[in-house]
Amino acid sequence: MYDQQVLGGAMATGENSETESKKKRSKISKKGENAATSSTSDLLCLLSSLPLSPSFSRLLFSSERKQPPLPTHPRSLHPQGQPNARYYGGNENVDRLELLCKERALRAFNLDPAAWGVNVQPYSGSPANLAVYTALLNPHDRIMGLDLPSGGHLTHGYYTGNGKKVSATSIFFESLPYKLDPTTGWIDYDKLEEKAGDFRPKMIICGGSAYPRDWDYARLRAIADKVRGFSLRTLHFLFSRFRLFFSIPLLSSSSLFSGALCLFDSLSFLSLFSTPFLSPSLSLPLSPILSLSLVLSDRIKQVGALLMCDMAHTSGLIAAGELKQPFEFCDVVTTTTHKSLRGPRAGMIFMRKGPKPASALKKGEPEGTCYEMEDKIDFAVFPSLQGGPHNHQIAALAVALKSVATPEFKAYAKQVKLNAAALGARLVHHGYKIVTGGTDNHLVLWDLRPEDLTGSKVEKACDMAHITLNKNAVVGDVSAMAPGGCRIGAPAMTSRGLKEADFEKIADFLHEALLICKDVQASSGRLLKQFNAGLAADKRIADLKTRVEAFGASYPMPGFVIDASKAATNGH
Ligand SMILES: Cc1ncc(COP(=O)(O)O)c(C=O)c1O
Repeated sequence: MYDQQVLGGAMATGENSETESKKKRSKISKKGENAATSSTSDLLCLLSSLPLSPSFSRLLFSSERKQPPLPTHPRSLHPQGQPNARYYGGNENVDRLELLCKERALRAFNLDPAAWGVNVQPYSGSPANLAVYTALLNPHDRIMGLDLPSGGHLTHGYYTGNGKKVSATSIFFESLPYKLDPTTGWIDYDKLEEKAGDFRPKMIICGGSAYPRDWDYARLRAIADKVRGFSLRTLHFLFSRFRLFFSIPLLSSSSLFSGALCLFDSLSFLSLFSTPFLSPSLSLPLSPILSLSLVLSDRIKQVGALLMCDMAHTSGLIAAGELKQPFEFCDVVTTTTHKSLRGPRAGMIFMRKGPKPASALKKGEPEGTCYEMEDKIDFAVFPSLQGGPHNHQIAALAVALKSVATPEFKAYAKQVKLNAAALGARLVHHGYKIVTGGTDNHLVLWDLRPEDLTGSKVEKACDMAHITLNKNAVVGDVSAMAPGGCRIGAPAMTSRGLKEADFEKIADFLHEALLICKDVQASSGRLLKQFNAGLAADKRIADLKTRVEAFGASYPMPGFVIDASKAATNGH
């Protein structure tokens, strides 16, 4: 019902495409048992009007689905809270569903349920990240993430060069980005270490949206452990230590230590907060006390920074063992579920739980002290940030996570890497520059600045040729709005069965598109408006589009089969 209404509306606004849709629909037949339902026929009709072009970075269909994209029945429930602890009753079946999803999530990443918890309710990646910050940081705590133009994500604390706070993360927290080495395009870990030593963040975030290399999690952990921070948590710390200090008559060495910390924290807290209200004659003598107590409490506590990994882009490759896994070194790991993991659009948060290993104990913490992140993160997801979970997404995620354990998924992940590498190598063969000169993962970042083109222009030309990629900042860019590169991902077309030679063919198409861009820019002008007009009038783009469509249509689409005779002529 819902599908019919929504898609009916969408189709009413797309009358012109109706005839073309019908034509295309005749070429496409639906696999599986759902073909007869009117809602899926509408869906099929709408989708069949879409070009079957190499969709690089947007995975329209997740995985090799033989079931509808998202189940609809669980959607009508409103089970706020965690399984077996919902606000409303009547959720036994949804509880089972969510528990199954959690179990599969942990299994997909080979995690011990005694040491890791997972929350599968985040609506997507950005809410997942904000939930982690809400749970583990206080407003204005300091964070460090990879800069957006270096390949980081908005939610890792992005603000523009002129200080405009773009992301909620930079609005609510104090963020200092780390960057790539501009000469190599690799993350500059030495610089990060130096900056972290000065900035003393409460949290370091790794993972990104457009970084083509794997991460050095061991190095990041070492950097995080070296950081000694001071935050407004001192207030909380102060009260807890005071309690301990006065309530234990026989002070053990650890509570003596706690007492010392309490003293330094009390002094720093009192002097910090009272100074603005005191007359200069009183506040002046207090300031040395403030400085000394801040330094001493920080030095002694050695709190270290939390290390969070946002593996949104690479979680599928990590699950398949094709990239290093971050869990050994990170405290929290977040992910979207619709990228290389090939699930529905949703998010997950993994957090450590249970007793801390000796290496993670802060000074003064007795052996056996447990992580306290799970409840805080669950609480941040609901009720702090979200309402009821999207159970239909969770159901679809449970299906996707089951497939992660299959040999087919492992083969897909391996092929994604091979395909991305083949695409990159072919672009280099054509004389182009790609960031870091290659890729370890699923994406290639194409630096267009040596070609005197922008990402927007190449993206536009590719769009017109039915090649979907996206403009992207490359290291050294100052604006994410006018970036100097394009990001090309391999998962979508790998899911349609393409291999290395096919990706080389895609690189050849990209090469053609770029040559057209250069000609059009030379003849029509550099301004985007002039460029776009010139592109629209160029017959070569239409020709490229025809060949790209024929190429794309010759591969199967998950959930659909293409006209058998056409597929046969292309050898698929
Ligand atoms: C690394 C990373 N984190 C988080 C997100 C946010 O995901 P969403 O747009 O689904 O909220 C993205 C999205 O592209 C991402 O690349």
